[in-house]
Order: sequence, then structure tokens, then C-alpha cells
Amino acid sequence: MPPTLTDTRETDRLYERVMRVIPSPEWLIHEPKIAAINRLKRDRNAVILAHNYQTPEIYHCVADIVGDSLALAKRAAETDAEVIVMAGVYFMAETAKLLNTEKIVLIPDDRAGCSLAASISGEDVRRLRATYPGVPVVSYVNTSADVKAESDICCTSSNAVEVVESLGRDRVILLPDEYLANHVAKQTDVEVITWHGHCEVHERFTGDEIRDYRDGFEGLVVVAHPECPPDVLEASDFVGSTAQMVDYVKTETPARVLMLTECSMSDNVAAEVSDVEFVRPCNLCPHMKRITLDNIHRALETLEPRVEIPETVAVTARHAVERMLAVR
Ligand code: 13P
Ligand code: SF4
Repeated sequence: MPPTLTDTRETDRLYERVMRVIPSPEWLIHEPKIAAINRLKRDRNAVILAHNYQTPEIYHCVADIVGDSLALAKRAAETDAEVIVMAGVYFMAETAKLLNTEKIVLIPDDRAGCSLAASISGEDVRRLRATYPGVPVVSYVNTSADVKAESDICCTSSNAVEVVESLGRDRVILLPDEYLANHVAKQTDVEVITWHGHCEVHERFTGDEIRDYRDGFEGLVVVAHPECPPDVLEASDFVGSTAQMVDYVKTETPARVLMLTECSMSDNVAAEVSDVEFVRPCNLCPHMKRITLDNIHRALETLEPRVEIPETVAVTARHAVERMLAVR
């Protein structure tokens, strides 16, 4: 269907949001796709949830809700829409489905995985429990529904310390991200048993690289995600979840900033703040980048691929997610 006058007014307004980061020849390709998605979204009574790592044309132009994993889980639990499209990775879509059993939850490319989620299975968690009898299991949301189903409670990078302390125990297993678990251990008296999972995007940053950037860019402020290795976190000025990193930059407005995380996040913030210079080492998440305007449109049109979780797994996995949401 050709764009209507209303579509054109809407996309003109949207272009104002992204003009700092999307050149006009590129926008000409995105514009009709954005108009078609926004039309279809209304027809389907659908909501699009987008993680902070989605590209600006998705994040700023078709998403209804954006944020970190915790915000997306919370907002998924609250939505009245009949269809939820997760512009993110598979575990995020599974979390949305756990909280919305009756709704259609779509993931535009069902191969959008995560190296952390792939690092551990439900069977591994059962083995850990046998090795550490009675020690509660806290699983990062970056895990499969099978792993969540074997866990006592979930956490995200923004509430991990509170979740660990909420259990009132002196020892917990926090899996699968070793670096996040070590970072949490530094902030609590609770003993933290870790797993050897890593994020393939964040593990590539090094402390030496940060020092080189500081030498090259005077007054550089470095903000990092807790999935980065310990020497990187030590060399940083602020550590937080993706949403906390975004808030930090918007609130503090440093003259120059290096965001140690997936590269689309700097683009998304740069679209909104004008006085900050972003220094950008670009580490892409290949899984997040599987989501495109084209496959979002296709998912809305066909209502596929859908996320389904066997009810036997969903019951206990949901309990672990809901228990986390009750903490923070
Ligand atoms: P956040 O919960 O901080 O958004 O992190 C999710 C993620 O996948 C980071 O790599
Ligand atoms: Fe997983 Fe890392 Fe990609 Fe986040 S950035 S989805 S943790 S692989």
C-alpha cells in the first residue's frame, strides 16, 4: 500500500529523532518500511519491545517500549496488546512469553541467540545443585527457559545485587556470567559461586584498550556493562546495566564518553543528546543484529515465528521470573 499523507507526516516526525545518526539516503530506504510496520502494528493491536542494542531505525522509529532486559520484562508483564513483537534476542522473547501465556509473542528471527544463554543447560544446573546441595540458584535472565525452570530466582544486570541479598543466605550460585557474578560478589558479603559463561561481545574489551583510549582522548569518561572482564570494569568510571549506562550519559552529559557495550547503543543515545562526543569502539552483537525492519514486518504480517514454551517448563521458569520482579 502506498504511504498516505498521515504516514508521511508521521515518518517526517520520526526522521527528526534519528537525523543525527541516519544519513538521508539511508533513511529513504527505511521510511516506507517504517510506515508499513507502524500501520500493521495498529491493525494487529501489537506492541514492539526493543532492547537498547537495536539499530536506531528500530529503536527510535517502530518500537513502543525500549529498555534493558529488566524494563522489557516488566513492561511485557503490563501490556494490554494482543501481540508482542520482541526486537531483541530469543531469551528476551521467552521471558515475555512466560509472563503472557495467552498472547502471541513473536521473535522476528528465531535464530537470535546469546552466547551466555548457550553456555549452560538445565542439566548443568541440576549437576551444580548436586555439587552444592541446598545452595540457591540465581540465574541471569540471559538463559533459556529450561535453565530458568531449574533456578530459584532470576536477575538482570540492574538488580543482581538486590536479588542475591533478597534470599537472606550466605552462599548463592549466580550463573552463567562469570564476570557479572564476580562484579556482584564485590558488592555483597554473600559468597557467590560462579559459572564460566561469557558474553562474546563484552569479553572482547580489554583494560589496555581502555588505557589507550584515555591516552588518545583527553577527559574521556568510560562507562561499562558488567559483562565486561574485571580489568575493564576496574578501568571504568561507571558500571551498570544498559539502561543505567544510558541514564548516566543523559544525566551527566560528559563532554566525551566511551560506552563499553554493543555499538548501536551509542547511536541510540547520540540521536538524543547533542553535546556529548561518543568515542566508539564497535563490538556488534551478531544475535541482536539478526532483527531488521524487514523481518519485523514479516513477523507482523504472518504472525510467525511464535515463541512457545512447554507448560511443564513454563510453570517453574515463570515462578523464577515473577519472584525477581517482586524484588525489583
Ligand atoms: P541489559 O539487561 O543490561 O540490557 O543487558 C542485556 C544484554 O544482553 C547485555 O549484553
Ligand atoms: Fe548475549 Fe552478549 Fe549479545 Fe547480550 S550482547 S545478547 S549477552 S551475546
